[in-house]
Amino acid sequence: PNLTKFVDQLPIPPVLQPLYKDSNYTYYEVHMKEFKMSLHRDLNPTTVWGYEGNYPGPTIEVESGEQVYIKWMNDLPEKHLLPIDHTVHGAQKDVPDVRTVPHVHGAVVEPESDGYPEAWFTRNFSETGPYFVHEIYHYSNLMQACALWYHDHALGITRLNIYAGLAGMYLIRDCYERSLNLPSGHYEIPLIIQDKSLNDNGSLYYPKQTNPPVPGLETSIVPEFFGDLNLVNGKVWPYLQVEPRKYRFRLLNAANCRFYHLSLSSGQLMYQIGTDGGLMAHSIGLKHLILAPAERADIIIDFTNMEGQRIVFQNHAPAVFPNGDMPDPQTTGIVMEFRVELPLSHLDTSTTPAYIQPLPPIDITSANKQRNLVLGSTMDQFGRHMMLLDNKTWDDPISEKPLWGSTEVWSFLNITDKTHPIHLHLGFFQIVDRIPFDTERYARDGTIQFTGPSLPPEPEERGWKDTVRSHHGQITRIIKHFTTYSGRYVWHCHMVEHEDYEMMRPFFIVRDSA
Ligand code: C2O
Repeated sequence: PNLTKFVDQLPIPPVLQPLYKDSNYTYYEVHMKEFKMSLHRDLNPTTVWGYEGNYPGPTIEVESGEQVYIKWMNDLPEKHLLPIDHTVHGAQKDVPDVRTVPHVHGAVVEPESDGYPEAWFTRNFSETGPYFVHEIYHYSNLMQACALWYHDHALGITRLNIYAGLAGMYLIRDCYERSLNLPSGHYEIPLIIQDKSLNDNGSLYYPKQTNPPVPGLETSIVPEFFGDLNLVNGKVWPYLQVEPRKYRFRLLNAANCRFYHLSLSSGQLMYQIGTDGGLMAHSIGLKHLILAPAERADIIIDFTNMEGQRIVFQNHAPAVFPNGDMPDPQTTGIVMEFRVELPLSHLDTSTTPAYIQPLPPIDITSANKQRNLVLGSTMDQFGRHMMLLDNKTWDDPISEKPLWGSTEVWSFLNITDKTHPIHLHLGFFQIVDRIPFDTERYARDGTIQFTGPSLPPEPEERGWKDTVRSHHGQITRIIKHFTTYSGRYVWHCHMVEHEDYEMMRPFFIVRDSA
C-alpha cells in the first residue's frame, strides 16, 4: 500500500505495572497474545503479537539492583501468524509451531532465566523445550542505568516472533542517572524503530519463499528481510509534537536486518549520552548515528528556538549494510517527524551533561585468553546461503568455554561481504578496535595478514556495548569479563534471519570446581 506519512501520532508504550511489589522484590506477569491494532490511519487493523496486549510491549522500568520476577505466559494461538520454515534447525515439524521464550537483551541473569533458545514453552507451558527450567524468571538488574530491551528468542522462529511484534523496552534506573538532571518524564521517550512490509489488507507480509525458491518447499528463511516501510513504536511513519526544549530519546533498532543511519533534516546535532550498556564518559554531538539491529543509543535533541519547524528523522543506511541498495528517500529513507508545535509548558532546566562519568577502558593486557572467531558463509543442501560462526552450527559441541571470573578478548574475523551485529549474552563488553586484514589470504591458507592500522571504536561506540558491528574485511576485537553467573548462554548475529539459520552458538562459562 501507498501510505501517507506523518498522519499518526507516535504512540508511547505504557509502563508495565507489577502485580506485587515490596521492598524485597517485584513480581510481574506478562501475557503474550494475538490481537489487532492499527499500524496506520489508512489501513485496516493488523493482526500482531504482543506482550500484555501491546505492540511493542509495555516498557519495563526497574531500579538498579531491584529483584524482579517475571512470569512470562504464552497465550498465543496454536497457528503461527507467519510462514514457518521447517527446514531450519529447531523448527522441524515435530516441535510445536508456536513456541516462545523471552530474553532480556543485555541483562545479567542466571542461565535458566536468560531465555535460552531451546528453553521455549507453549500455551500453559504444556510443552517445553529441552532446556526449559522454570516458569518464573528472575532478574537481579545488577547494572547501572541503561536501556535494555526484551524480545522473543525461540530457536528457528526468532525472526518471525519478533516480526510478529514480540519486542519491548526494558529500562534500568539509578540515582546517578537521576542526579544528572536529564530531560525526564514526558520529555524522555523510547523510539523503537523497525521496518515491515504490509499487504494491501493491512496484514503483515513476510516472504514464504526464498529467492530463487526451493521447489516444493515453503522455506521462509530468506538471507535477509527488509521491509518497505518504517515503524516507530508500532506506527508507520508517525509524528511527534514536541515543545521547543530538550528531549531525551532512547533509541532502539528492533528491526530484523535493517541498519539505520539516522540524521535530522534540520542538520542539527544530536547529543549522544549513552550506549547499549548505559551512560558514556561524556556526551558527543553527532550529525549522523548508525544503529545496527539490537543496538541502542541514548540521545538528547534540543528543539529550543525551533518553534513551528518540522524535522524529519531520516535514514541513509544501505540494505544490506554497507554495500546494498540505498534506502528510497520517500519510504525506507524516512523514519518519523518531529513537529515543534507545542507551547513551552515551563522553563527547560534540564541539561546535556558534558562530562558524565569515568569509564576507563578494560586493560587488554589483563585478558586471560584471546579467541579468533570467523564469520563466514556456506551453502546448504538446497543451495541457500547459510552464515556460520567459526564454521560451526548450533548443534556442534560448545567450543567457547570461558572460565568464570576471567577476561577474554574475542576477535571476529569477518570474511563475509556484509556487516554483522554480533551480540553476546550476559551483560556488556567493550570494543577494543578493528583491524583490516586480507580476507582472501585468510580464506586461502588461514594466515592473518593485516592490511592497515588498528582503528579505535567510533566515538558513539565508546561505552559499554552488548552488540558490535563486525565489518567485512576487519578483525573486530571486544573485551569482556565473564563474571557473576556461570553456565550456558548464547552469542549470535542479531540480524535475526542469520541467527535463525545457524549464525548462533552456545557458549559456556565454566566455574572451576577445584
Ligand atoms: Cu537480542 Cu540473543 O538477543
